[in-house]
Amino acid sequence: MNIFLLILAVFVSDWATGANEMTVRADKPGAEIRPTMYGLFFEDINYAADGGLYAEMVKNRSFEFPQRLMGWNTFGKVSIRDDGPFERNPHYVRLEYPGHKEKRTGLENEGYFGVAFREGENYRFSVWARVPSGQSSKIKVELIDPNSIEEVQAVATQTIDIASAKWTKYTITLSPTRTEAKGRLRIFLDSPEEVDLEHVSLFPVDTWMGHENGLRKDLARKLADLKPGVLRFPGGCIVEGTDLKTRYQWKNSIGPVENRPLNENRWQHSFTYRFFPDYYQSYGLGYYEFFQFAEEIDAEPLPILNVGLACQFQNDDSTAHVPVDSLYPYIQDALDLIEFANGDASTRWGKIRAEMGHPEPFDMKYIGIGNEQWGPEYVERLKPFVKALRHAHPEIQIVGSAGPSPDWMKKEFDYLWQEMRELKVDLVDEHYYSPESWLLSQATRYDKYDRKGPKVFAGEYACHAEGKKWNHFNASLVEAAFMTGLERNADVVYMATYAPLLAHVEGWQWRPDLIWFDNLRSFASASYYVQQLYSLYRGTHVLPLTMGGKAVTGAEGQNGLYASAVYDANEERYIVKVVNTSNEAQDLNITFDGLKRREVLTEGRVVTLLSDNLDADNSLENPRRIVPIEKALDVSGERRIDVELPAKSFAVYILGKGSME
Ligand code: AHR
Repeated sequence: MNIFLLILAVFVSDWATGANEMTVRADKPGAEIRPTMYGLFFEDINYAADGGLYAEMVKNRSFEFPQRLMGWNTFGKVSIRDDGPFERNPHYVRLEYPGHKEKRTGLENEGYFGVAFREGENYRFSVWARVPSGQSSKIKVELIDPNSIEEVQAVATQTIDIASAKWTKYTITLSPTRTEAKGRLRIFLDSPEEVDLEHVSLFPVDTWMGHENGLRKDLARKLADLKPGVLRFPGGCIVEGTDLKTRYQWKNSIGPVENRPLNENRWQHSFTYRFFPDYYQSYGLGYYEFFQFAEEIDAEPLPILNVGLACQFQNDDSTAHVPVDSLYPYIQDALDLIEFANGDASTRWGKIRAEMGHPEPFDMKYIGIGNEQWGPEYVERLKPFVKALRHAHPEIQIVGSAGPSPDWMKKEFDYLWQEMRELKVDLVDEHYYSPESWLLSQATRYDKYDRKGPKVFAGEYACHAEGKKWNHFNASLVEAAFMTGLERNADVVYMATYAPLLAHVEGWQWRPDLIWFDNLRSFASASYYVQQLYSLYRGTHVLPLTMGGKAVTGAEGQNGLYASAVYDANEERYIVKVVNTSNEAQDLNITFDGLKRREVLTEGRVVTLLSDNLDADNSLENPRRIVPIEKALDVSGERRIDVELPAKSFAVYILGKGSME
């Protein structure tokens, strides 16, 4: 058959079957896809840090909450004192003899929505203590099940002898004999001699990488399994604070944990319908831990710093912000942070990092100045930061903000982009929490972006579906469709991070979120799997993919299909991602054009994400309801694949490149 007849035959057969004919130009690898392309946005919202990823189980461990005993129940003779050993956390408790040998003095911590422990696991309890008289005394430490129907509430008990008037750290291991999600930590004074206690802490021994001041292993594992290329931290709005006093200050988050001062979490009071008066930041998960975690999961650290503005949503009065001529300490914070991350151990801040256990630099390459800022008040503050950073650290890439939305704050967004171009920042942080229709229409968003200006960091995004602002499969499908546009435009989009990342099922303020958890369990949402499929099958170069001569963006005549293609030079494979947003299954023929004479496809597989219920998602009880399903594809020796894509599904086709025998 001559070539004309072959083309005609293919055309006629596709027309007859109604198949969607897509073409991938295998010979035209385009933009490089950056290793940073898909990453993590971490913010302490929804109890993501304290009560979440940070594995500390004691709430208000240093008695520094404004109500000094919040989170604690006391019995007998307990008093608060304020001349403790840690300058920035001066409060501690004194336990005294209750006045009768049959009475008890002590206290009980309720944890974050309970103190949860598992039978067979070990928990490290530690406390700073002293006996003011210099005599010896004792405390008894217990993990208890307060609702137990057994005779004994305690499921683990240990006694600590305290024999010094000098503040000393005592550590024991507790091994519970039962599993309990809503337990308590109880401490008794076990001797007539009074005892002082400070920084009462309880961690699972088995944390991520075994760090003592560590992260919850199941959550850290889920983050690592996303194979993120970048870790943005510590927010989000908590960078800004409700007021400047409560902004995130990185210098408070390093050094010994006992002396990191408490900060109010702005998500405590952001929504009165989800109000959490006990939400504070211990800073136990601080900048050192963020850098360390980024290194361990092979992600580029991307800290975001305050630009001298408190949250602009919450402050319309300019006096709430730092005057431009008083920005010096804020700019110095940014310079010092670079020294903390990258300076050698002879520098002031590099020395602190080295003393904390990391003599080697963290090799930080990016810094964000300002979170979700807008208006001239942002630009006039950003300018001196850029000047100082460029002067002292031309090697560091600067991320600027494009405000809260290119949709409902478009005027501010356009103004900011113009200013960011003029300021020559390296990346611009775009945020969009938007409904289905907007996100689908934006699959072409970056096709016409200026290729010469700053690059895009899609720093916060998620589908906030119309009337369904919570996790469900269809929202994830829309995200997958939108992301084909990020991938196709990898020459302009360098980073993308879904937000928010983590949420406690009892303590959330914002939904949807990528990963949900209670104190013992966690699950990944369908959106998580969309992110993971993009990240695992990121590839190295964009390949042109068309249908009817056009990019596949759900345009008219494209049957609700969205698609993108990449080549993975490391694995020598082609990867095609296709999202079917229609209610019908779609036949697809994907032809690989431009293969060399003997080149063909070798082994293939398809990974598909779909759900029988568009409103459903995974849950603690059913964590694997919606997960990617992998199947082999028989493509060996072919240059085209013919497949059927189920209605409302996301599929990733992974096809090896080889030669004919
Ligand atoms: O991700 C939740 C919040 O959304 C972030 O803190 C903020 O930057 C945005 O408004």
